[in-house]
Amino acid sequence: MTESCPTIKVLAVDDEENILRALQRLLMEEELELHTATSGEAGLAVLRELAGFGLIISDQRMPGMNGSEFLGRSRELAPDALRILLTGYSDVSATIDAINRGGAYRYITKPWNDEELVQTIRDAVRQYSLIAENQRLNEVVRQQNEELKEWNQNLKGRVLEQTTAIRQKNEELHGVLQKVKENYNAIIGAFSGLVELQSGSRRQHSRNVAELSVNAARELGIKGDDLETIRIAALLHDIGEIGIPERILIMPPDTMNAEELREYQQHTIRGQMAIDAIEDLRPVGLLIRHHHENFDGHGFPDHLSGETIPLGSRIIAFADHIDKASEACSGDIAGQALARAGFVLGSHLDPSLNGVFRKVTKYTYFSMKDEKTEMMEVEVGLKDLQEGMLLSRDIYSGSGILLLSKGCVLDKIKLTAIKRNYQLDAPSHDVFVMVKR
Ligand SMILES: [Fe+2]
Ligand SMILES: [Fe+2]
Repeated sequence: MTESCPTIKVLAVDDEENILRALQRLLMEEELELHTATSGEAGLAVLRELAGFGLIISDQRMPGMNGSEFLGRSRELAPDALRILLTGYSDVSATIDAINRGGAYRYITKPWNDEELVQTIRDAVRQYSLIAENQRLNEVVRQQNEELKEWNQNLKGRVLEQTTAIRQKNEELHGVLQKVKENYNAIIGAFSGLVELQSGSRRQHSRNVAELSVNAARELGIKGDDLETIRIAALLHDIGEIGIPERILIMPPDTMNAEELREYQQHTIRGQMAIDAIEDLRPVGLLIRHHHENFDGHGFPDHLSGETIPLGSRIIAFADHIDKASEACSGDIAGQALARAGFVLGSHLDPSLNGVFRKVTKYTYFSMKDEKTEMMEVEVGLKDLQEGMLLSRDIYSGSGILLLSKGCVLDKIKLTAIKRNYQLDAPSHDVFVMVKR
């Protein structure tokens, strides 16, 4: 890319005006701006007044300041200009002096050949233009380098700013996701509480089934989303019982008439339907639907058998059976409940799960018996409640709604729920927990 070149200024200095006029005539057609002066002093004055001369032509023999001295002094005022000395044949030493002191580019002997003089001036002007263009381009490159450097620094700054902004957004998003997850778990917990309220006689049945199912599933190597699906399905497996009269729910199935049995058996499908609108919970719905299928195909609602029953449903069915059996047990609850499950292996329950349930069941029903002797019950105020404490009595709200059943271990969510309920509908006493003597 080239910019249009400005017209080059040329200064001609000679004490003979006819020489200056001859030069003006010769250079009339050239694209340059010719200035003249009739002495070295006058020439220096022009250079002081106007900047940007590209070529200075000077006669050697002038009164006062001679040509080589003038050219020498002109270097201070126009350092980049090229210089030409006009001299006679005999002025060899003046010519050498002009070249050395005055930095003369060429010398031309008088009388000159017009064509040769014009060509010399053209060459000088072209050379000056090239040098000036080279300097201009160097300056452009320097400036662009500066700009690039600055731009790079700004870019680095902007990248840093944006990285920080992205990190902050990420943290915010993480916080929001965490909140959503906590809310989601709280809602699942609330649903599960509703199921337990509905079937009042079965204390923390849903939570026991969930604990047994999750521990058994873990033993089987199930993890991640699949484990979470089993946990939620276990917590909500009887959600379809909501709305079924309690009179039917407390009857043993073999004493129900056909109508009662049909209504009871509907709870598997009703449970699946209840959460079907929540797309993320559909895999949970499937496990709920099949939690009463029997291993031999005589269960409901779809009479699936063996491994056609989803593994999660078989696990929940096993856990459900154990927890129902545990209600009638005392002493070694785990051992007795497992013995009862043993009677229906292969018919109701998947026999391949017996091993893992033998491992995990004792952890769910551990506890009260073995530790009773070393623990005592205390009433604890809300501010002293801590995660990990074991409830020794059911917690009811002031208006008599069961909030948590005894035997459950407090975690962060339960603590928050208790505190909130005590604010909204406080009972007349604090919370009873077991502590070591
Ligand atoms: Fe059920
Ligand atoms: Fe159940």
